[in-house]
Amino acid sequence: MKRNIIITGGAGFIGSHVVRLFVNKYPDYHIINVDKLTYAGNLANLADIENKPNYTFIKADICDFDRMLELIRQHNVDGIIHLAAESHVDRSIKDPFTFAKTNVMGTLSLLQAAKVHWESLPEKYEGKRFYHISTDEVYGALELTNPEGIESPFTTTASSKEHHHAYGSEFFLETTKYNPHSPYSASKASSDHFVRAYHDTYGMPTIVTNCSNNYGPYQFPEKLIPLFINNIRHRKPLPVYGKGENVRDWLYVVDHARAIDLIFHKGNVAETYNIGGFNEWKNIDIIKVVIRTVDRLLGNPEGHSDELITYVTDRAGHDLRYAIDSRKLQKELGWEPSLQFEEGIEKTVRWYLDNQAWMDNITSGEYERYYDDMYKNR
Ligand code: NAD
Ligand code: TYD
Repeated sequence: MKRNIIITGGAGFIGSHVVRLFVNKYPDYHIINVDKLTYAGNLANLADIENKPNYTFIKADICDFDRMLELIRQHNVDGIIHLAAESHVDRSIKDPFTFAKTNVMGTLSLLQAAKVHWESLPEKYEGKRFYHISTDEVYGALELTNPEGIESPFTTTASSKEHHHAYGSEFFLETTKYNPHSPYSASKASSDHFVRAYHDTYGMPTIVTNCSNNYGPYQFPEKLIPLFINNIRHRKPLPVYGKGENVRDWLYVVDHARAIDLIFHKGNVAETYNIGGFNEWKNIDIIKVVIRTVDRLLGNPEGHSDELITYVTDRAGHDLRYAIDSRKLQKELGWEPSLQFEEGIEKTVRWYLDNQAWMDNITSGEYERYYDDMYKNR
């Protein structure tokens, strides 16, 4: 079937994996990547597919309603997969306005543009889909009731061989009440509400998914894993916030893209699906895995880079634990992570070490100023 799909934020980390998957898997779809190319957007992330006949890149700001309407009309778009956002919690603490603008107003402008176009068609919303990608951070933070970790109640074929812990007995469900704490998560929560409101008020066929922390190739080195790999390579300190006790649930980015593909095609309208890795780690433990892997792949003796670990002032309002229960997606649509965490981390570290030019290119100039500003007083 021929479809015309806008993917917003396709030049970013997760978006580039989604664009690649759709362009390669669906030669009959026209994939239109709409991205403003902020500091986080990088067309080098898509170099391998940029010349494919079913792919178009358009540099545009989702906040520009007229432009969004024009694009949706011009390409007779029937599906929107919306990933464009400001995505980094630390930046949101310094500059919350940009987050409200892009994440809230940008999402609203895209929703309204889709509404105006789709309602003008004879078939209206039939066969249309507005799929909004969100985060588990909207649910707030869970308690860390088992600091040493207990056996996780969840297993998948891809569960970690060595590490299978939960750090509390509660998990985020699709029904968990929203309770965002950071300006980032508050802006994502607000955008999620707008998306649901467009379904409830106008009948737009929307879907929202809330995913846990992603890792993998092409992630901007402001986020924990690529930042630390790059700092180890440059023998720079590894800034651990607080005591390194915070817990995140990590998912390999390609598994998130696979889930998005499945849900876009098979998910039920007006539903929410939580997506997670069944894979909780304390920051300090994951940092040790990253150090061990980088040292091994660089041929350094074991423990060589441990001395770089530097405890710094904690992030303001730092959420203690995120842990997703994604059994609804597992049961209803048969999705599971495909990659064991040990394999995922190995692949990821290898990718960054093999693609140093990619990293060097984005860590020149502006990045230096960002880094100095973010870490100077910690
Ligand atoms: P990212 O920061 O790597 O990429 C964001 C992309 O959006 C960039 O290409 C940027 O240029 C583009 N963009 C920003 N503002 C824009 C605007 N006004 N108009 C058009 N394009 C704009 O982000 P990511 O980590 O790939 O996250 C993608 C989405 O997934 C976000 O909505 C984020 O909230 C969500 N998410 C991320 C994670 C994670 O672990 N990274 C987890 C769950 C959900
Ligand atoms: P991050 O990758 O920014 O993702 P998020 O805040 O969305 O979960 O951070 C992951 C965890 O790592 C989080 O608990 C904060 C912590 N962290 C550090 O300890 N040091 C750092 O330099 C960064 C960027 C994050």
